Amino acid sequence: MKKCFAPLEGITGFIFRNTYHQFYGGIDVYYTPFISVNQTCTLKKNELSDLLPKNNHVPRLIPQILANNTDDALAYIRMIAELGYDEINLNMGCPSGTVVAKGKGSGMLRDPKALDLFLERLFCGLSSISHQPPQLSVKTRIGIRDLSESTEVLATITKYPFCEVILHPRLQKEFYKVPVHQDVVLSWQKELKVPLIYNGDLNTPRDIQEICQTFPSLAGIMLGRGLLWHPSLINNYVDSCNNNIFPSTCPQEDPQKLRCFHDTLFNRLLETMQEPNNVIHRMKELWFYMGCNYPDSAKALKAIKKARNIPEYQAAVRILLQK
Ligand SMILES: Cc1cc2nc3c(=O)[nH]c(=O)nc-3n(C[C@H](O)[C@H](O)[C@H](O)COP(=O)(O)O)c2cc1C
Repeated sequence: MKKCFAPLEGITGFIFRNTYHQFYGGIDVYYTPFISVNQTCTLKKNELSDLLPKNNHVPRLIPQILANNTDDALAYIRMIAELGYDEINLNMGCPSGTVVAKGKGSGMLRDPKALDLFLERLFCGLSSISHQPPQLSVKTRIGIRDLSESTEVLATITKYPFCEVILHPRLQKEFYKVPVHQDVVLSWQKELKVPLIYNGDLNTPRDIQEICQTFPSLAGIMLGRGLLWHPSLINNYVDSCNNNIFPSTCPQEDPQKLRCFHDTLFNRLLETMQEPNNVIHRMKELWFYMGCNYPDSAKALKAIKKARNIPEYQAAVRILLQK
């Protein structure tokens, strides 16, 4: 069963992906955070860096786009395919208000007829890109406001030759909070003729074991926040398979390893990103999750959160990691 690292905008750029893979590994496929398609039809400098094969040292990388216009989407697909990618993922799940307002992400699920037309034009246009266009996969939610919408979303997706479907079984209005609707997965599995990847709230070895037992024909699982809270989660799960003991909480992270991971990531971001404040911002995003490994260090974690520059950040981290 394939293990995928979910795209996490603002966190899982190429430096994070490479560093995670170097220290923890165990992931078969990584996805880029979404590239938002627009009329300029050019990749921004940071988007291009994130995509360049020479910058990426992971087993497989699938670029993801966020789109609401077929012509623009096709222009981006062409540019990305020219970099050598044979699969591109379409984001139909992002629940953010600003994204949804533009009809992108899960905003695409608002009007099933418009979605149908978009996908029809997209798949028709694909062949104009090259004689061997990239395959398209999709990462989707199940609707906007009501569970009943799931049937039509599924029916629309099954009409088109996506190579794979990643399902996050929540509605747009539910963001990431309420429990996932696992019961929906079964009907999707029955109807889909292509591999299905499950995504959502796989945060402990027990969660992974339960989803794999409940849905044994899943082609894979995708993990996001669970790997930020506990970078060893996949390794712990693999160990659990060997021992047949699946803990319902994550075992303690190795502090030494976590520290090396942090330091390497931080130094690489500093070397690569132009603006030190962006590095701090990125690291704070990560600490929002990784901080759970330091339950007795509320004061040091607060100091990280409040750090305004590199020296303040480094001082706060030193206190936290030396404890
Ligand atoms: C900070 C953050 C950024 C995200 N960025 C993206 C993104 O760029 N593309 C995407 O498809 N999903 C994105 N997601 C959703 C995740 O990929 C994933 O579907 C979600 O976190 C649920 O999985 P999890 O419970 O394993 O974290 C993001 C989620 C978070 C919390």
